[in-house]
Amino acid sequence: MVFSRRELLLGAATTAVSGLSLPSRLAFAAGRFANTLKIPTLIEGKPGEGGKLFELGVQAGMSKFLPDVSTPTIGINGAYLGPAIKCSAGDRVSIRTRNNLTEPTTLHWHGLHIPARYDGGPHQVVEPGAVWEPSFEIKQKASLCWYHSHLMEGTGEQVLRGLAGLFLIDDDESRSLNLPSEYGVDDIPLILQDRRFNREGSFEYLSTMGDIEMGYEGDVIVVNGTVDPHVMLRRQRTRLRVLNGSNSRIYMLGRDDGADLVIIGSDGSLLERPVRQRRVRLGPGERIELLIDMQPDQTVTLMSYPVIAGAMGSGMMMRGMRGNSETFPIIELRAGQLETSDLSIPERLIAVPNWNPAKAERTRIITLDMAMMGMGRMGGPEMDGPMGINGRSIDINRIDLRIPLGDVEIWEIRNTTPLTHPFHIHDVQFRVLDRAGALPQPYEHGLKDTVLVDPGSAVRIITEFSDFADPDHPYMYHCHILEHEDAGMMGQFVVV
Ligand code: C2O
Ligand code: CU
Ligand code: CU
Repeated sequence: MVFSRRELLLGAATTAVSGLSLPSRLAFAAGRFANTLKIPTLIEGKPGEGGKLFELGVQAGMSKFLPDVSTPTIGINGAYLGPAIKCSAGDRVSIRTRNNLTEPTTLHWHGLHIPARYDGGPHQVVEPGAVWEPSFEIKQKASLCWYHSHLMEGTGEQVLRGLAGLFLIDDDESRSLNLPSEYGVDDIPLILQDRRFNREGSFEYLSTMGDIEMGYEGDVIVVNGTVDPHVMLRRQRTRLRVLNGSNSRIYMLGRDDGADLVIIGSDGSLLERPVRQRRVRLGPGERIELLIDMQPDQTVTLMSYPVIAGAMGSGMMMRGMRGNSETFPIIELRAGQLETSDLSIPERLIAVPNWNPAKAERTRIITLDMAMMGMGRMGGPEMDGPMGINGRSIDINRIDLRIPLGDVEIWEIRNTTPLTHPFHIHDVQFRVLDRAGALPQPYEHGLKDTVLVDPGSAVRIITEFSDFADPDHPYMYHCHILEHEDAGMMGQFVVV
């Protein structure tokens, strides 16, 4: 059974919702790491008029995840996921996007600071057979960004079926650091996803109300489309670029040998300096860059551990009930013989842009609301849908915020619901000022576009809305649990 947003709305209004406590049992826990990690193809564009031309075709196909069965999927230039787009700050790029599906889609450039009409959100639908060619300049720091479907009420399903890929940006500053940067060799992307499968091989999606309320979680971990993966490392030092491309699962990354992770990057930039920590929490839409040093013949498993709640409150119980409480392997890193690497890490990596809170034009209060779970309306006064922001579900015809061009703003994102939500803003990269009044984690001190907001907590971010004003084309802000976004926890702003 599949619930539409409308059925969900009715269900939430009339019944106490069941499915709160669906235990997620990770089917895949064998950890034999039998399969070689797939690496998405890197594309650097062809010289075209006025810049680099990238060609993307969104298409349907069949993919092999499980033995004996195949899975219908969609992908970009392939059956599942898409190529990694690589470019440099200052490049002009055009991305010729053809929709070869029999259904509409969109491709949104998550993390990119570009004009709203090229953003690829729900307003830039590409109909079946149509071509859409956004063209823009790369005006931002070296970072791991990504792209994915952003179809109104259909993002969760299209991303689940495979519409996502990486967008790698470098710049002179990052190149001068001698970080590992040979793609697929010592610079390896890891797209973390989780999936559930029906017996005949298709993805199982929205089969319970809990899938929407709590967000969809799978019981099979898939990395770059590979189940039960290992990767052979060939150099002493490897850079791992990790994207949480899951619909809703939050990972608590760590090494099985208990050694610290060395974190050098966040969503939208490298960090000021490397951070060493045993565990890193990574929510949907967030990225982290790691350095891993290996000895010859060493094996390290990248794991996910139970999330230790930062904030106490009513959310504790809920989060313990599903997901996030499990320990499971993600990928095995294997070393054979190793070529030597430069093992020095500069103490200072880059200068991360920052804004002075005292200079902020205003503070906006953004409240994440859920009117469900059989617990009445939570967070919002008079919600007009199952989920919303500041008491309102997304209305594609309503502009929620008008932001003056050049504004430096603080957004205080409040969460009165019992779940942790990854909050994302289009157009900008921000700094996290504080979480429940305390400093954010050291690995959150880079530029970010997505941040986890815990139950009963508030996160303050600061950013500047620069460069692109357009009264007619909005940008989105939303929860990056894709089922929450599809259920209405999204708003839109124009920069004017
Ligand atoms: Cu990753 Cu509005 O998107
Ligand atoms: Cu985005
Ligand atoms: Cu959410």
